[in-house]
Amino acid sequence: MRSLEELIDLDGKVVVVTGAGSGIGRGIAVGLAGLGAVVYGGDVDADGLRGTEAAAEEDGVAVHGVECDVAEEDSVEALFEAVAAGHGPPDVAFANAGISGPMGPVEELSTAQWHRVLAVNLDGAFFVARAAYRRMLPRRRGKIVLTSSTWGLRAAPDPGFTPYAASKGAITNLTRQLAIDMATNGVTVNAIAPGAFHTNIGDGFYDQQPDAVEALRQRTPRGRIATPEEAVGPAAFLASSASDHVNGHVLAVDGGYLAW
Ligand SMILES: NC(=O)c1ccc[n+]([C@@H]2O[C@H](COP(=O)([O-])OP(=O)(O)OC[C@H]3O[C@@H](n4cnc5c(N)ncnc54)[C@H](O)[C@@H]3O)[C@@H](O)[C@H]2O)c1
Repeated sequence: MRSLEELIDLDGKVVVVTGAGSGIGRGIAVGLAGLGAVVYGGDVDADGLRGTEAAAEEDGVAVHGVECDVAEEDSVEALFEAVAAGHGPPDVAFANAGISGPMGPVEELSTAQWHRVLAVNLDGAFFVARAAYRRMLPRRRGKIVLTSSTWGLRAAPDPGFTPYAASKGAITNLTRQLAIDMATNGVTVNAIAPGAFHTNIGDGFYDQQPDAVEALRQRTPRGRIATPEEAVGPAAFLASSASDHVNGHVLAVDGGYLAW
């Protein structure tokens, strides 16, 4: 019988987290580094990455920041090459980078705005999952975790979220399909579906739209907005051997938002 420590042992595991320059990605990157993982954080925001490296240092651990635009497949491949050069193939990859995109009436949405949200949220997750899988294949083991959303499992309660909710719905089914495609080669694919987390998403939505944030809080049975650190436990579970037989699952981390 393995102990709990053995089940969630991440010591020396090579973990890649995109969107690591802020919010949930920073929380996961710093948190898993604190659990002993060798963490590489990819983000398009260099200053954000420096902030994450500093936050890790404050905790006495390290996160290796690598600039990367997940919407560009060459940039994603370069991220994984940097990881390989430093520490070899990844054990775990979190395809977490995402944007909320423009919120507004569908009739005012430009094609370019629509494509941009899908390019970052959906293409980006696919590029990260594929790049990780290519490097996991020779060893026939690995774990890939995508970031969906409660609004990838049902629609957002208010109008204006069409590209975002569509991209996250696609992430939910991308998770399931990749789980089928990759399982025969020893790689599992799951997703985290966050509810409301206080981050920098949506150009400071959580700091600038108190009424909308209050509505989300009230809609959440636990009655509060989560902090990025609260993603660490679920991330550690999905990254560790404790979840070895969990595959194609979308784990809501939402304080009960989806329970009703
Ligand atoms: N905060 C929430 O309430 C919430 C809810 C559900 C899902 N999510 C999802 O969680 C994930 C993380 O979001 P967050 O809330 O931490 O937001 P955030 O804005 O705080 O962090 C997102 C990070 O992704 C990076 N990023 C954006 N575009 C990128 C690109 N093209 N390439 C690389 N990095 C890029 C940003 O620079 C930023 O550092 C997203 O996928 C988001 O959709 C968040």
